[in-house]
Amino acid sequence: RSDNKVTVNFINRDGDRITVKGSPGESLLDVVINEDLDFDGFGACEGTLACSTCHLIFDEEMYKKLGPVTDEEMDMLDLAYGLTDTSRLGCQICLSKSLEGMVARVPESVADIRQTKDAEVVS
Ligand code: FES
Repeated sequence: RSDNKVTVNFINRDGDRITVKGSPGESLLDVVINEDLDFDGFGACEGTLACSTCHLIFDEEMYKKLGPVTDEEMDMLDLAYGLTDTSRLGCQICLSKSLEGMVARVPESVADIRQTKDAEVVS
């Protein structure tokens, strides 16, 4: 049954929108894996909070709905490239109906030290 599902929009590194559905309780990392989304290097530690490759960026309104950030997530987020005020780690975000239609942007890079300069050029 699909009526229970939550619609999630990912914006990939090319700026393309990929719309998929996940079940409540799944993390955004689960969704990426289950839907076989091809985000290079994403989710390297398989959700064990040991990397920052599942870094995703949200708009402010959605960010506020995502719930609190744990210290562990914060520590790992600090290592993410291109960190923003509305960044989270995808493996720590669980889907719920209130997140229906969310948009999660995959940062341009997970490990590119030129990121800060290049970010303005990419659109
Ligand atoms: Fe490694 Fe989320 S997948 S911290």
